[in-house]
Amino acid sequence: MTIDFFEELLKKPSIFLDESKLDINYVPKRLPHRDKELSLLSQLFLTLITNPNSISRTILITGKTGIGKTATVKLFGDMLINASKKRNLLIKYVHVNCRKEKTSYKVLIRIIRTLNKNFPKRGYSPQDLLEIIIDFLNHHDLYLLIVLDELNYLINKNGDLIYSLTRINDDSVYAPQRVSVIGIVREISCLNNLDASTMSTLQRNIIKFKKYSKSQIFDILRYRAEISIKKNGFTADIIEMISDLVLKNGDIRYGLNLLWRSSKIAEGRNLKCITNECVRLGNQDLVPFSTQDTLQFMSSQKLIFLLSIIKSLKKSKKSQISLPEIIEFYNICCENLNKRPKSYSQLWNYLQDFKRENILSISIKSESIKGRKAFINVQDVGLSTFEKLINSILSIKGIIL
Ligand SMILES: Nc1ncnc2c1ncn2[C@@H]1O[C@H](COP(=O)(O)OP(=O)(O)OP(=O)(O)O)[C@@H](O)[C@H]1O
Ligand SMILES: [Mg+2]
Repeated sequence: MTIDFFEELLKKPSIFLDESKLDINYVPKRLPHRDKELSLLSQLFLTLITNPNSISRTILITGKTGIGKTATVKLFGDMLINASKKRNLLIKYVHVNCRKEKTSYKVLIRIIRTLNKNFPKRGYSPQDLLEIIIDFLNHHDLYLLIVLDELNYLINKNGDLIYSLTRINDDSVYAPQRVSVIGIVREISCLNNLDASTMSTLQRNIIKFKKYSKSQIFDILRYRAEISIKKNGFTADIIEMISDLVLKNGDIRYGLNLLWRSSKIAEGRNLKCITNECVRLGNQDLVPFSTQDTLQFMSSQKLIFLLSIIKSLKKSKKSQISLPEIIEFYNICCENLNKRPKSYSQLWNYLQDFKRENILSISIKSESIKGRKAFINVQDVGLSTFEKLINSILSIKGIIL
């Protein structure tokens, strides 16, 4: 009889508590290290709750990719809606991704459909739509916070939309100010094409999101792991290893992706806990494979040293290994091959080359009074795959280790 693969898979214990919480579009209840930004947004929009008629805001958020701009604004949107509900205020939050809704028309339709689900998609000009929005708000005594995420996709073609939206409120002094706008872009430079007046409106309130530090990345990934993976399914070591890999470009998405892939690999191998090797394998095709190319042109001596690093790391089962441990292993390899080992300073130069070529990372730690020690961590390639690859290149050169 054919195996029922679904049933077989369903029988396996899962490493996940809730896999969907590693999805990059999931907005977690907490955003470690974004409290300051959340608090700032709350202060800026407090009047929307305390005195909704009085003021409308236009805020611009900037910062590099994958550092929580979208997630922070969405979480803030939830907080705002909760606070307004408690006070019987009618505030609507619309999050528009301008990469998806690329024209003014589409953005406006998206806004209107949040207010009225059944609004027909065709038959209006953008000006008509703007008027319909403001009539709707006045008629229902509603306030609106519009988030234009990835605004740069809209700016080049449709700068006037931002102008219109920020001017949608009636200019007369006592008229209620019903619309506020938050724009999100990575670089402020993409606003250069806007006309001066829109630009000055947007630039009045800028919140710049900083990149996360290594320890912040660690906290964030640990939290995301805690809510999505079983308690014994991961260790602090694993989160640290992933944080190291994320630090290069600082994109938390990369970390979530890698955490998910590593968990899947662990599950596939019937492991109860993610291991270093799962992370290395998970990371393998997540990174460009320039390493193979580098290895092809590497000298035998260098390859032997690199192989010693891989082998000793693999043997140690740790995520990183100290240089003296590697050298001890390397000396044995050289003895077996009947080759004279290279000097310490030469090996140190090799290490620097490997680091430059992104094959490994070196961290210096002060372990005791005796001094500082270099620890080596091979990042991008699964150790076994790496070992096989180097062995095959060496064997072409007639060296079998
Ligand atoms: N402080 C944090 N705590 C928990 N998760 C976070 C945190 N910061 C970012 N994330 C998660 O990282 C992922 C990327 O964040 P987000 O989508 O907000 O990035 P972004 O700054 O908007 O990037 P982009 O400019 O590419 O759109 C999301 O899944 C988000 O939930
Ligand atoms: Mg975003």
